[in-house]
Amino acid sequence: MTHLINRNILLGVSGGIAAYKSAELVRKLQLLGAEVRVIMTQGAQQFITPLTLQALSGNPVHTTLLDTEAEQGMGHIELARWADLLLIAPATADLIARLATGRADDLLSTTSLATAAPLLLAPAMNQQMWQDQATAQNIDTLTSRGVRLIGPATGEQACGDIGPGRMEQPEAIVQAACALFDSGLLQGKRVVITAGPTREALDPVRYISNNSSGKMGFALAQASVDAGAITTVVSGPVNLPTPRHVERRNIQSATQMLDQCLELVPNCDIFISCAAVADYRPASIEPHKIKKGGEQITLQLVRNPDIVATIAATRPRPFTVGFAAETNDILTYAKGKMASKNLDMIIANDVSNQEIGFNSDDNEVTALWSGGEQTLPRAGKRVIANTLIAIIASKLG
Ligand code: PMT
Repeated sequence: MTHLINRNILLGVSGGIAAYKSAELVRKLQLLGAEVRVIMTQGAQQFITPLTLQALSGNPVHTTLLDTEAEQGMGHIELARWADLLLIAPATADLIARLATGRADDLLSTTSLATAAPLLLAPAMNQQMWQDQATAQNIDTLTSRGVRLIGPATGEQACGDIGPGRMEQPEAIVQAACALFDSGLLQGKRVVITAGPTREALDPVRYISNNSSGKMGFALAQASVDAGAITTVVSGPVNLPTPRHVERRNIQSATQMLDQCLELVPNCDIFISCAAVADYRPASIEPHKIKKGGEQITLQLVRNPDIVATIAATRPRPFTVGFAAETNDILTYAKGKMASKNLDMIIANDVSNQEIGFNSDDNEVTALWSGGEQTLPRAGKRVIANTLIAIIASKLG
């Protein structure tokens, strides 16, 4: 991937001489389309001012953990959830040691603990400090937890020493960030994803619908294309931009969604049904606006086709994934839907909590398949989508 469009990158800057390069880093990340927010440690502010990074990023720079204003706006939990990637550049020896021991005594270390987003470190320190056993052990600890590194580079250092420890060039750091989003897990696969609500017309101006925003389905489309898949999203009416390189087919009703899916499915390896499809539609659509009459009105509704079950019944069929939006007995109902619709996997989504599920930025789900399950704790929908795509890729035959 050579772009970071639609990516939220949280840049952590700690206190080393290489902090001055973070200004260039912000610009390069933005040029590739990323939205950038910055956290600076106290030490970093000795090398470069928050004002510089604020002017460049176009966003306030975050510096303190216990800041009442920040807590109302972008506090550490909100920053942690907002990020698709936490990039720390430069990462000093002290910061690396604090991350390795799980300290949470300033905004950057606390946010690092609180985020589910991947963590990419660009170490920068004196060559002797880098080669010290303590630093080596801290790096081992972090990498064993899945933290990624870019650099350090080898060469002449600000202190006059020569050796490994120089922060990598901003260009290389940006490329490493791009590569993190480009898993290649679904290289060459064709993926169809349904997203958003359907609208079932009553008359020319009224319809039955629901609160789906399309955010979860579009996040899956972004994750799918990032994983190398040729991706189509069949979307109900939503107010979202189409992720780059994703084909989008707009529909209104469930029957239109089914028609599009049936057209796409013969060439599809994976079908993900994230849309909130109306189970029923009006038996007939009035040609003219329905007039106000008596105190009551009776609508006659008929069953809509079940799109995901129809796709699961096609032969040959794609790997078919459904969602189950439930408010109670979530796993039990989700397992029932997986069986009755004959799905390969179902994503159980608690929609009783307004902070997750319909129309929220976050989600919290459990993926279920024959013989296994994995719960994904609360995180931004883009983080959840990346993990779901990785799980789906691992279950393909
Ligand atoms: O769009 P967002 O605001 O981001 O919200 C995301 C979401 C909450 C809508 C999403 O995460 C979710 O849970 N989607 C499934 C919504 C739903 O309709 O669930 P269900 O339990 O009623 O349906 C079960 C499965 O059958 C779903 O995969 C659904 O797409 C599918 N279905 C349902 C009815 C129908 N006629 N055809 C279908 O294909």
